[in-house]
Amino acid sequence: MSVQDEARTTTGPLTTESGAPVADNQNSETAGIGGPVLVQDQLLLEKLAHFNRERIPERVVHARGAGAYGTFTVTADVTKYTRAKFLSEIGKETEVFLRFSTVAGNLGAPDAVRDPRGFALKFYTEEGNYDLVGNNTPVFFIKDAIKFPDFIHTQKRDPYTGSQEADNVWDFWGLSPEATHQVTWLFGDRGIPASYRHMNGYGSHTFQWNNEAGEVFWVKYHFKTDQGIKNLTQDEANKLAGEDPDSHQRDLREAIERGEFPTWTVQVQIMPAEEAATYRFNPFDLTKVWPHADYPPIEIGKLELNRNPENIFAEVEQSIFSPAHFVPGIGPSPDKMLQGRLFAYADAHRYRVGINADHLPVNRPHATEARGYARDGYLYDGRHGRAKNYEPNSFGGPVQTDRPLWQPSALTGATGNHVAPSHAEDDDFVQAGNLYRLMSEAEKERLIANLAGFIAKVSRDDIAERAIDNFRKADEDYGKRLEAAVQALRG
Ligand code: HEM
Repeated sequence: MSVQDEARTTTGPLTTESGAPVADNQNSETAGIGGPVLVQDQLLLEKLAHFNRERIPERVVHARGAGAYGTFTVTADVTKYTRAKFLSEIGKETEVFLRFSTVAGNLGAPDAVRDPRGFALKFYTEEGNYDLVGNNTPVFFIKDAIKFPDFIHTQKRDPYTGSQEADNVWDFWGLSPEATHQVTWLFGDRGIPASYRHMNGYGSHTFQWNNEAGEVFWVKYHFKTDQGIKNLTQDEANKLAGEDPDSHQRDLREAIERGEFPTWTVQVQIMPAEEAATYRFNPFDLTKVWPHADYPPIEIGKLELNRNPENIFAEVEQSIFSPAHFVPGIGPSPDKMLQGRLFAYADAHRYRVGINADHLPVNRPHATEARGYARDGYLYDGRHGRAKNYEPNSFGGPVQTDRPLWQPSALTGATGNHVAPSHAEDDDFVQAGNLYRLMSEAEKERLIANLAGFIAKVSRDDIAERAIDNFRKADEDYGKRLEAAVQALRG
């Protein structure tokens, strides 16, 4: 039995944090009856001091979330595309932890809001943890990491008003036409999922897979919900957010408690490396999808969530996911957003959870062991014992494999603040227009109403007009109807 289990089940006395028995947990110690409290009451001081330090900084984005453990099972042979061991055999199972989230809200924000949902998945593989830190949307608002802090500032609280401001949101989106596709998605029916169980997940970026022979493939991941897609209308969400702010979190926990384990069918789109340069869209542009007609999704696995965390703070708040956590056979693409994320997450973890965050139970590898020479720092647990803390050494210990996880990319040209290359059919509006034209008339009506309701709150005409103009460039009818709807609301 672990110390933690023992502590939970013990019938022994209450103790201080250092283990001494506590005589009175109701009355603090005073100098006489009715007198002032004494500094020698260590229990009181310890309780107050510990309480003051209960919080760690919340995530700067995706602060609000819920997680669960589960299993990923391989259902297709993908060994010709990747040498990743956890994908090496049909039927092979890997333990996972998935944290869902909203993006803009703070830790206590309601779940039922119009916002992308995070879909952060950790595979505890035998070759180390593989993290796929995606969203419920296949695309994103921007395509260069250098714009991310500015973008998020417009989604969060204004420095003066302390609230999210329509002016800031639409000013940034109007001036960032590449957002038109994702904004069309977000204000459409899928913009407010009914629960975390009733939505898809996407890796969103393009990643590299490489096989035993060293051949390279570009890959996009899709997690299709087997519960069916279910969404809330804006009115339903407004009501639910007030009545049950924890609606998504509660739904996930209760479904798992009932034994109704949510599952997703895992698919990939695969592009042979040599096709990337001439594909009609830049395959590394996060604001674009690869239409399924070009690269049909193929099923590769099943994801099931079947175990709730026991302790939300330890396992969800302190969980960390990094797009830079790859395993052999999987690597990054040159997507400029992904490249920025390769830095940002581990940096956030060091600040938010600390330098030993990787070694907490939820974060450390479960199917292998981390064997490095980094040591010490805050809350180091001494796990390396007396082993040498340098390499190379002549006392034994882990050594490098000489085999990179992913294959190198060929490059040309000079350094510079380059715009990512534009391919034959690339522009900021084509896929937004295609998405709009795919919608039924009823869907279009709801999309226009959702957008107009928000744009109408903008205080400056030029900001509203520029925002609407982007939708007009996506589709003439889209822009015309939106302009009329905004005018009707603004009077
Ligand atoms: C360059 C762009 C981006 C930057 C710099 C960035 C940065 C961050 C940071 C700093 C966090 C908090 C991490 C933590 O404290 O543990 C975070 C969380 C997250 N981000 Fe991003 N992000 C970017 C784009 C994206 C994109 C494109 C996606 C999805 C496709 C995404 C999905 C997530 C998710 C799901 C989380 C929550 C992870 C968790 O549950 O712990 N982010 N992001």
